[in-house]
Formats: sequence, structure tokens, C-alpha cells
Amino acid sequence: MRVHVADHPLITHKLSVLRDERTPSPVFRQLTEELVTLLAYEATRNVRVTPVEITTPIKKTMGVKISEPRPIVVPILRAGLGMLEGMVKLLPTAEVGFLGMVRDEQTFEPTTYAERLPADLSDRQCFAIDPMLATGGSLAAAIQFFFDRGADDVTAICLLGTPEGVETIERLVGDRNVTLVLGALDEGLDENRFIVPGLGDAGDRLYGTV
Ligand code: PRP
Repeated sequence: MRVHVADHPLITHKLSVLRDERTPSPVFRQLTEELVTLLAYEATRNVRVTPVEITTPIKKTMGVKISEPRPIVVPILRAGLGMLEGMVKLLPTAEVGFLGMVRDEQTFEPTTYAERLPADLSDRQCFAIDPMLATGGSLAAAIQFFFDRGADDVTAICLLGTPEGVETIERLVGDRNVTLVLGALDEGLDENRFIVPGLGDAGDRLYGTV
């Protein structure tokens, strides 16, 4: 597994505003979208492309296009939905699958309440998006879903992660072709398994407490 932690002042600046408890939902949503676009630049570094011939106003030359089968972007609901718009702006031809997961507040185990993914993911580049990698349980379950359907090329983009979360994913994937792109690697988890210092509950901050 490859882990890439962003190291860019624009990302750190936007994350600082996102972390601030006074930042209201509309600004939070806007910043989430901007951040995912910046992180997607790194996360799509190995997106598969096919050579194509193009004709400029001057002459014929070679370019590339995104290969078939098209990559699939999978937001982990609910908070991952806040990252979808920014991601498909950069990869407009990608298909979009959905995984709905919620973490139990007592056991911290994720349960899946919605799933809309192709039955066969072999040969597909899968991009999972979720703002928070806390214990790693949710993302691990999502990656396991992809593996079970034949995926062998998975990239996950999270705004914040923890060493514990990274370790959970590492244990699951070993040396398989998985890349983790993080906006920042935080200190760790508190007793409620919230990321410290983190930004609170990303789903609630995006969409309110339901
Ligand atoms: C949050 C977050 C991740 C998960 C991270 O979602 O968006 O999906 O928890 O925790 P983990 O790494 O310990 O599994 P939550 O369950 O709060 O649901 P929500 O997105 O609907 O708010």
C-alpha cells in the first residue's frame, strides 16, 4: 500500500478553516469540494490512459484519453457525498457507485445500509472518498467490498486520517495495489473514536445532525 499525505500550504490552509468549529455548513461544503479537487490531482496520478490521435489547428499529434472501463468513484455516505462534486469535476467521465455506511456509536463497528456498485469491478480503477479515516473500520469494509468484486486497483481519498486508521487499512490490504491519499495525518483518536484534533463529525458539519 502507498500512503501519500499532502504537503501543500493551500491544503493546510483550507483544512485549518475546515477544522475551525465556527465554520458554518455552507463554507464547510465549499471547502470540502475545493480540498477534494486538490487531493484528487495526486490521487489520479496513476489513472489509466490510452493514446489517441488528435488534430490541432496546426497538425496531427498524439494525446491520451481516460481508458475503458472507466474509473469508478464511490462516496461513502453520508459524509463522502460532500466530496463527490469536487471529484467528478476532475474526472467527469468516471462512473459513480454508492456505499452507505454508518459507524455504531458504542461498538464503533460500521454497518452497510446501502450499496450500489457494479457486480464486477475487475479491471476497474476504484476511488473511494470519505472525509474521515478514524479507526479505519468503514474504509476497510468499503475496500473489502471492492476486493470481493474483483477490484485490484483501489485509491482512497480522505481529508483527515489517523495512524490507527492507516494501520487498519495496511493490515487489510498488505501489498495489494491500494493508495491512500490524506489531506493530513492527525494525532490519533479520543475515547469516542473521534479524530484528534480532527474537525468533529464531518457528516453533521456538512448536512446537520439527523
Ligand atoms: C464517519 C466518517 C467515516 C467513518 C470514519 O461516518 O465519514 O465514514 O465515520 O470512522 P471509522 O474510520 O472509525 O470507521 P459516520 O459513521 O459518522 O456516518 P455519516 O457519514 O453518515 O456521518
